[in-house]
Amino acid sequence: MCGIIGIISTQEVSSRIVNSLKKLEYRGYDSAGIATLVDGNINEVKCEGRVDVLERDISKFNLKGDIGIGHVRWATHGKPSKINAHPHSSEQVSVVHNGIIENSTILKKLLEKKGYVFKSQTDTEVIAHLVTDYLKKNSLKNTIIKVLKKLHGSFALGIIFKDQNDLMVGAKRGSPLAVGYGPNENYIGSDSYALKSMTNKISYLEDGEFCIVKKDQIEFFDNVGSHINKKVLNLSKNEIDYDKGDYKYFMEKEIDEQPSTISDCINEYIDKYNNQVNILNFPWKTSSIKSVMLIGCGTAFHSCLIAKYWMEQSTNLDVSVDIASEFRYRKVRFKKDCLYIFVSQSGETADTYAALDLCKKNKVKTCAVVNVVESSIARNADLVLPIHCGQEIGVASTKAFMGQMLVLYILSLKISFDQKSITREEYKHKVENLLSLSNSAKKTLKVDQKILNIAKVFAEAKGSMFLGRGYSFPIALEGALKLKELAYVHAEGYPAGEMKHGPLALIEEGMPVVVLAPRDEHYKKTISNMQEVIARGAKVLLITNKNKDEVISENIWEKIEVDQLDEDLIPFLITIPLQKLAFYSALKKGYDIDKPRNLAKSVTVE
Ligand code: M6R
Repeated sequence: MCGIIGIISTQEVSSRIVNSLKKLEYRGYDSAGIATLVDGNINEVKCEGRVDVLERDISKFNLKGDIGIGHVRWATHGKPSKINAHPHSSEQVSVVHNGIIENSTILKKLLEKKGYVFKSQTDTEVIAHLVTDYLKKNSLKNTIIKVLKKLHGSFALGIIFKDQNDLMVGAKRGSPLAVGYGPNENYIGSDSYALKSMTNKISYLEDGEFCIVKKDQIEFFDNVGSHINKKVLNLSKNEIDYDKGDYKYFMEKEIDEQPSTISDCINEYIDKYNNQVNILNFPWKTSSIKSVMLIGCGTAFHSCLIAKYWMEQSTNLDVSVDIASEFRYRKVRFKKDCLYIFVSQSGETADTYAALDLCKKNKVKTCAVVNVVESSIARNADLVLPIHCGQEIGVASTKAFMGQMLVLYILSLKISFDQKSITREEYKHKVENLLSLSNSAKKTLKVDQKILNIAKVFAEAKGSMFLGRGYSFPIALEGALKLKELAYVHAEGYPAGEMKHGPLALIEEGMPVVVLAPRDEHYKKTISNMQEVIARGAKVLLITNKNKDEVISENIWEKIEVDQLDEDLIPFLITIPLQKLAFYSALKKGYDIDKPRNLAKSVTVE
């Protein structure tokens, strides 16, 4: 996590650094800071809290300088505070860092023995002192080579030097770093998004590489200091100015955008004239794929889980799912006939990227389902299937989940058609059905008034449960995750059939429980499980779909019905009331909806 920006120019840089930091806040927002070089002195302004606070503080200092670095932090080592905010400076250099230096404790001890005094509790401060120490006996370039060799762990770095008013350094291992080319100025940044208002010409550093950035020149080096050439990418010029419109919160807007997410994605992947899936760039013969492994974190992992149900239902593939942070450390037996699918909104999640990297090293087939098409994951996978849902700003993922599910559903349809594991009629029927999904999603959005009242109970609860079977189980997990991250209410997602194997003991009088029971093959069994929790005092919110038969059950507290679609499409609809439930519960408690505590939008540390 954390966001880096660096600018070297012929003009003052602080206001542009602040503007870029605002764009990077999705990476961390517990503290922020900036350092500029003015007449051989490094001037720092840092604060606990958001970039707005930093901006206010900077205005008091009249921060000058045409070289500068800035940072937004998501704390790893040391609590969020002004002293722990980046940049971290020694008497010679100032450093901003994303990632984690795993051997920082050892390095700190060595440096302390040499007399260096540490001000913060961060791992980053060792870099500042280490660079200072090496600079005593080495050229700048050799210093960087030696320092990078000493550091264990992951990092993206931006460094400015007190005695060098004509350059800054960028380096990368693990965490992403983009380098931008401007007119009489150049930049480094955690991503192209932070640089887009200044340039559309970008290069990306690869692991082990570093660069020396001057106003009119950028030199790139590998880990031993040999010059390398980098490809310059031309990004699309139109910077989409994504604002809240009439909404107060991005999350609220993003939930409401889901019908368009669905139709945009369908327009990309479905040929409506021929009623077929259009994934033209699929680079393999489907017959060469015997199994699929889906990998992601958090919400993206939940979309992987649901894809397992779809793929097992309609294809002949063996399907497994794993959490990226587990997959990357398991002793995986890589298979040439397996397609490894990486799902990530940001495309920068450190664990998901590392899992992809592992697959690349083992030369197996890789596919990325991402939102950010310029991301590290997208750039490294063999096949990229974008979810086309536009920028997602709310830290809680909503429309991206919808897009991830949809792309995975469509991919599953393609494979089942190619494999002939479903009939042509079934295939056409499924493709056709997809076309009504956006409209049903639009109708499902109209539950606000009802959810508002229900949310009052969830917001005040000590704990809650979300239950479902089959397709509804991953949605139960996702509903629980949303409530946890936004309303800070303990919530457990559980397969309804597992309740009597332990969790039933948690149910007590008045505990709110969501039961997802669409009219599918599990319906009757889920309703029985619902009875069991009602009998023990739970307040049940039942989410099902409209049907001519009434739900036969007494003492249901509240009920929400979504459209009656084929059962494999119901997950898309029942997701929506759960997103709104979390949103209104957080709203009720007055929490920061777009930036929940302790979280960040892009998790670039493991
Ligand atoms: O960018 P990614 O999709 O790879 O992010 C994965 C998770 O960090 C993310 O889905 C997280 O769980 C969300 N905050 C959930 O709302």
